[in-house]
Amino acid sequence: MALCGLPEFTLLLLPLLARLSAGDCLCSEAALCQPIRHRPDFEVFVFDVGQKTWKSYDWSQITTVAAFGKYDPELMCYAHSKGARVVLKGDVSLKNIIDPTFRASWIAQKVDLAKAQYMDGINIDIEQEVNCSSPEYEALTALVKETTECFHREIEGSQVTFDVAWSPKRIDKRCYNYTGIADACDFLFVMSYDEQSQIWSECIAAANAPYNQTLTGYIDYIKMGISPKKLVMGVPWYGYDYICLNLSKNDICTITKVPFRGAPCSDAAGHQVPYKVIMKQVNGSVSGSQWNKDQQAPYYNYKDPAGRFHQVWYDNPQSISLKAAYVKNYGLRGIGMWNANCLDYSDDALAREQTQEMWGALKPRL
Ligand SMILES: *[C@@H]1O[C@H](CO)[C@@H](O)[C@H](O)[C@H]1NC(C)=O
Ligand SMILES: *[C@@H]1O[C@H](CO)[C@@H](O)[C@H](O)[C@H]1NC(C)=O
Ligand SMILES: *[C@@H]1O[C@H](CO)[C@@H](O)[C@H](O)[C@H]1NC(C)=O
Ligand SMILES: *[C@@H]1O[C@H](CO)[C@@H](O)[C@H](O)[C@H]1NC(C)=O
Ligand SMILES: *[C@@H]1O[C@H](CO)[C@@H](O)[C@H](O)[C@H]1NC(C)=O
Repeated sequence: MALCGLPEFTLLLLPLLARLSAGDCLCSEAALCQPIRHRPDFEVFVFDVGQKTWKSYDWSQITTVAAFGKYDPELMCYAHSKGARVVLKGDVSLKNIIDPTFRASWIAQKVDLAKAQYMDGINIDIEQEVNCSSPEYEALTALVKETTECFHREIEGSQVTFDVAWSPKRIDKRCYNYTGIADACDFLFVMSYDEQSQIWSECIAAANAPYNQTLTGYIDYIKMGISPKKLVMGVPWYGYDYICLNLSKNDICTITKVPFRGAPCSDAAGHQVPYKVIMKQVNGSVSGSQWNKDQQAPYYNYKDPAGRFHQVWYDNPQSISLKAAYVKNYGLRGIGMWNANCLDYSDDALAREQTQEMWGALKPRL
């Protein structure tokens, strides 16, 4: 039972938590239920959202799997056999965590769940709006600090990470204490995608993660005093499909105005598409794959059965390699993606090649 910072009077809660005690180890060898202690020099941080595609991942690279799908003991055993960590997803309503007692019991529950499932830490993914001078602002930093202390104490070698937006500049009205949070955990996973969640200029379709915009985010995090070694770059393995209200000759696709957290337009006008779907569609499209030099990203236009033009922006090995080169040149902690399930893991020869190239693009080339 993890009792990190839990005030004594909450001992009343304990019978509830006790049910989550460690179960039997289901791995072929008991040693595989041991948490991973090795600290890799370079992180390849993978989000997995379920099912069995993980069997086809490139395990020669993976260091951490954030298990956002249903818990799969087989995945845990396999990851451990490859020396990779498997971590929980952590999300909680920020209104609740203002109360230190609630925070402590939330943390205790997560540590117990991690222990019962032989997991190696937690990835805290809170994308909620926070006002700068609000109790939530302080409470969030405290949550990360207390979670890290408790995990590190209770599970040797465990890892606690926190997901942040592509830029620290109040994206989506998230005012977080980034330096405090970075200090308080092992590293930040920077979600360098959904970068059009707030479009302040013209309402037109654009790249999910334009090269310059992506780099600006890292420059700003580093300028705040956050070490590059505390930053893992997240790249998208999905794109956005937008319906064009109008598609100009030079491929400017005007989109519907869908406001988001104060901005007049957003990527919510489009819908997300996994790379595997994009790869099936791109060759048959009106334009074929095009390269936008300003954004250093590929896109294509297609016509739907109703006769409307769509523009699809995505990332491919070419755009990802450019970002991976930045990861290496600026000494970031590592790279990762949302999410590993987006690729085509079927036996089809072309799909295999495309999938291999996407994994390969994570490796910074010399
Ligand atoms: C932040 O402050 C604004 C204005 O005071 C308020 O409307 C909004 O609900 C607040 N947001 C949160 C998440 O507390
Ligand atoms: C951020 O958090 C750290 C650690 O709790 C604290 O020392 C610092 O004052 C906070 N910074 C801001 C701007 O709130
Ligand atoms: C659509 O684009 C065409 C070509 O650029 C332009 O002539 C036309 O005015 C645009 N229509 C609207 C409704 O914006
Ligand atoms: C699409 O085009 C590319 C480049 O020409 C080619 O390598 C690939 O085999 C094509 N894919 C399909 C599904 O036809
Ligand atoms: C991207 O950044 C580079 C270096 O700062 C600059 O030279 C270039 O003009 C920028 N490109 C765009 C499209 O903003």
